[in-house]
Amino acid sequence: MTSLTQFLIEEQRRFPQASGDFTLLLNDVAVACKAISRAVRRGGLSGVLGSQGTENVQGEVQVQLDVITNEIFVNALNWTGRYAAMVSEENDELIHITDGNPKGEYLICFDPLDGSSNINVNLSVGTIFSILHCPQGVEHPTEQDFLQPGTSQVAAGFCIYGPATVLMLTTGNGVNAFTLDEEIGEFILTRPNVRIPEDTAEFAVNMSNRRFWEPPMRRYVDECVQGKAGGREKDFNMRWLASMVAEVYRVLTRGGLFAYPMDEKIRDKGGRLRLMYEANPMAFIVEQAGGAASTGYERIMEIQPGSIHQRVPVILGSKNEVERLAAYHRDAN
Ligand code: F6P
Repeated sequence: MTSLTQFLIEEQRRFPQASGDFTLLLNDVAVACKAISRAVRRGGLSGVLGSQGTENVQGEVQVQLDVITNEIFVNALNWTGRYAAMVSEENDELIHITDGNPKGEYLICFDPLDGSSNINVNLSVGTIFSILHCPQGVEHPTEQDFLQPGTSQVAAGFCIYGPATVLMLTTGNGVNAFTLDEEIGEFILTRPNVRIPEDTAEFAVNMSNRRFWEPPMRRYVDECVQGKAGGREKDFNMRWLASMVAEVYRVLTRGGLFAYPMDEKIRDKGGRLRLMYEANPMAFIVEQAGGAASTGYERIMEIQPGSIHQRVPVILGSKNEVERLAAYHRDAN
């Protein structure tokens, strides 16, 4: 039985020069995820289901648990001395470390409760995070310091609160999944070296947007729907959970293609999903598991961010299907 703590310390030993900070900062995130898991699991017992009556920077209605889980995450990391600043989906501006607390060498971008519209219907939700180095010599990070491409991430992961709470983590050396053993309060390694099959017969997309999609996306999905009767040599199955963590977890378990592509309704926003705390961390995990992640036009991790809440189209999952869809985008051009 390997706990997350043991796993991180063993990873750290591979780098004799490591200070141990990196191990601790991932541990901080794990503690935050345990606290969020507890808050989510209590459901209606805490009397915190339902809308907060406010909107976040994205113009989305906040549920009470968006706000509560954001506070849990920030409070768990604010005092540790391992972060220099944070970016959250729920805050317009950067979150600075409270004056008087020590500052560390890392930046973190996170979505405390992804898929939170699913909370009231009791479906899986999750926390997504992406860790970057704070540029050297920067004492007071600004938005500019966060605007690093996904290829600069030093670690990324997500924690899914489903039938089990599972932390999926990469530090750039493959992907490992840890299941929370609630009785001992530890994440235990349950799926070492997660790999995504290169081929799949399953796709996930919000089909109600079909008429707004660009032609390459319509072509791809229409062919999947036609299956053997069309040009493809197999029939496809479709899933849509409206919870990115749950979709990506499924892709990491049995393969598949997940897409929130560009469409005409959201073109002026740049896409639907957020680059810094949704697309980049998921792209890092998926690539590390042998999959691919693209906007259709470019590799997600190579996008130079222009703002902390930037949105992008996302197509990720089994490599051969992502590449096929990217090829359809090239053909259309
Ligand atoms: O904010 C992101 C998110 O909740 C994702 O988790 C999910 O994939 C998507 O939005 C769902 O979008 P829609 O409501 O259009 O199905």
